[in-house]
Amino acid sequence: MRFAGKRAVVTGGASGIGRATALRLVEEGAEVWIGDVDVAGGEELAATSNGRIRFQRTDVTKVADIEALMLAADAAGGIDVLFNNAGAGGAREPIDEIDADGWDRTQALLLRSVAMGIRYAAPLMAARGGGAIVNTASIAALQTGAAPTAYSVAKAGVLHLTRLAATDLARHHIRVNAVCPGFIITNIFASAIGVEGEQRTVVNQAIAGIAAHAQPVQRAGRPEDIAAAVAYLASDDAAFVTGTHILVDGGMLTGPRHSWDVDAPSLFDTLEAFR
Ligand code: NAI
Repeated sequence: MRFAGKRAVVTGGASGIGRATALRLVEEGAEVWIGDVDVAGGEELAATSNGRIRFQRTDVTKVADIEALMLAADAAGGIDVLFNNAGAGGAREPIDEIDADGWDRTQALLLRSVAMGIRYAAPLMAARGGGAIVNTASIAALQTGAAPTAYSVAKAGVLHLTRLAATDLARHHIRVNAVCPGFIITNIFASAIGVEGEQRTVVNQAIAGIAAHAQPVQRAGRPEDIAAAVAYLASDDAAFVTGTHILVDGGMLTGPRHSWDVDAPSLFDTLEAFR
């Protein structure tokens, strides 16, 4: 019960990582406000939470929506924890094809939303004596090849923003950290290709098969894996942790597959065969 008596705001809380985190925080005693564009998903979650979760329609690309969410949560008792998490795939074109609108839309969704979330929550948290902020970045912030260019740049920005915000807000006793999920089975992949409703389950099952073999830990990543890391960073267990990130990727960034799979041929083994 690390969050007994605490109040949290979770963006993108209607689905996937945000939903799992909202449930985890509630399980540990928190009351949670979720902000999301998915009204049906948000209201359904709130309705089944015994009043522990409240939903407010929030489009994080709209600064006024973000401010309204923070003010509503604050008026209901204050904000101790903010999880800036809402997101989607964004513009997919390579840098020599992307247009400025796609670029701007992606940065607004994934980077400006985090900046403005912090901007409008931090003064309210400061007035209560402090708090903890966690931002969702990605393995794509750390290496190429994991996601489209505009998305990856935005997530890299989230990591640096996390460090800068940690220094800006230290004087208010607000810690700021990030989580970098690896390959996690959520609706983000189905949404990226325009698949909605029940059909998403079919897509998710197909993707889970690939995800189980994509990293050293040989199962698909789950939203709950990320929720556990977020709960740690947001809790007093992480009281001496700020301005950093936790990679939760089942080991995906450890390196090439042959470095951990003895059956996978390495470049050096292959060359050796020709000596
Ligand atoms: P998801 O699609 O299950 O959840 C994303 C949520 O954000 C949805 O409820 C969606 O309605 C909401 N959302 C989208 N645009 C919004 C907007 N403009 N305003 C408010 N809410 C909006 O996907 P998932 O995977 O849970 O994504 C959560 C975060 O995790 C995102 O920031 C994503 O980039 C990040 N992430 C996900 C990874 C994965 O493998 N699933 C890997 C690395 C990062």
